[in-house]
Amino acid sequence: MNTRSLSVALLLSALSPARALDADFPPTIVPPAAADLWVSFDKTDLAKPEAAEFPLSGPVLSDERTAVYKVRAEMLPLLSQFMHERFNRCGGYLTHDTMTAARASMRPTAAVPRIAYTLDQQATVAPLVAGVREENIRGVISAMAAHNNRYYASPTGVEAARWLRGRWSELAAKIPGASAELFAHASWKQPSVILAIPGSENPEEIVVLGGHLDSINGWGNSAARAPGADDNASGIAVLTEAARILAESGYRPKRTIQFIGYAAEEVGLRGSQEIAAKYASGGKKVVGVIQYDMSNFAGSGEGIFLLTDYVDPALSAFTARLIDAYAGVKSYTTKCGYGCSDHASWTKKGFPAAMAFEATFDGSNPAIHSERDTLASSGGDASHSVPFAKLAVAFAVELAKTAPPAGTN
Ligand code: BES
Ligand code: ZN
Repeated sequence: MNTRSLSVALLLSALSPARALDADFPPTIVPPAAADLWVSFDKTDLAKPEAAEFPLSGPVLSDERTAVYKVRAEMLPLLSQFMHERFNRCGGYLTHDTMTAARASMRPTAAVPRIAYTLDQQATVAPLVAGVREENIRGVISAMAAHNNRYYASPTGVEAARWLRGRWSELAAKIPGASAELFAHASWKQPSVILAIPGSENPEEIVVLGGHLDSINGWGNSAARAPGADDNASGIAVLTEAARILAESGYRPKRTIQFIGYAAEEVGLRGSQEIAAKYASGGKKVVGVIQYDMSNFAGSGEGIFLLTDYVDPALSAFTARLIDAYAGVKSYTTKCGYGCSDHASWTKKGFPAAMAFEATFDGSNPAIHSERDTLASSGGDASHSVPFAKLAVAFAVELAKTAPPAGTN
């Protein structure tokens, strides 16, 4: 969320379709045509006073909730800057590769069977959560943050995804039938990573625990240092510690559990949108999603903060009960006010999702998206993330059991 010196005035002049070309000589060199992209905004945002000088005109698609605009890819940093200066968000719009993808994102397509949320696995969960180790979480944060950046379009962003796949493969090797695979995205190089533990009874029903693996400096500079220790090496580290505990315990789920490290979140939730769209069109039964994005900065004191917007209220209420029962800290609520992370991709597609966050929105880490987002600026250890890993273990086990059929016990 750092600011650059570029002013909104310059931004507006750069984005305006009516921009006058300087009659200078030699003539302005026009760069080769960049790729077109489609960006979507919530109409409630566009109606706010902050959007008074909104630089795009003429949505190419629109329904009662969403307006979609066609833009050149090179304009995205400027658009992000506008959103930051006016809305105090880092970006806050969704990016799509094609008009078809933009249109598909506007309507939920998933028809998911709702499962009963019951809390009855204490005998399994309690000993497992006791095994969460702060130093393991810290170790993964340090390893992820050691890449120069994990930007979706930079070589080190690809290396970081491969590193994570390697770590998750070591865990998968300990579980019969489990796998850790790269999920390739057609429009950029950084893959997502999926660790799948097959269910023994209802393998077609899937519990997803996810977080984004990419990082960004400012509005996207593929060479700049972006350790992203909190945003979001912390979420990846929490998922990895939960997966380690499940892998080393001999536990076998009845539903399938998938841990997902999403590519390209920082540039408009692009990785998670593609995955959620593919799961929806493939008829996959995702019975619950939890998103981990920033868990290591204790800006509002101890506790886990559940978002209340762009989430499923029933699943979020159940997640609060899991925190009370298993995480050893209290749960609180907060909201972003916009679709601020990958949970929004699942919610938009009709899948139930919750999101566990480090603090209130205003109390969250001010160093994100800069070279200052290091482990040191989150206190130098991973202690704030420990309850998040306990919650992840509990979420996986309580959702991946198969509920007994009605009338039995
Ligand atoms: N981790 C942040 C989201 C976040 C930041 C939540 C601060 C709460 C407080 C995430 O990686 C991010 O930067 N999201 C973007 C939106 C996305 C659609 C590009 C943002 O917040 O602008
Ligand atoms: Zn971010």
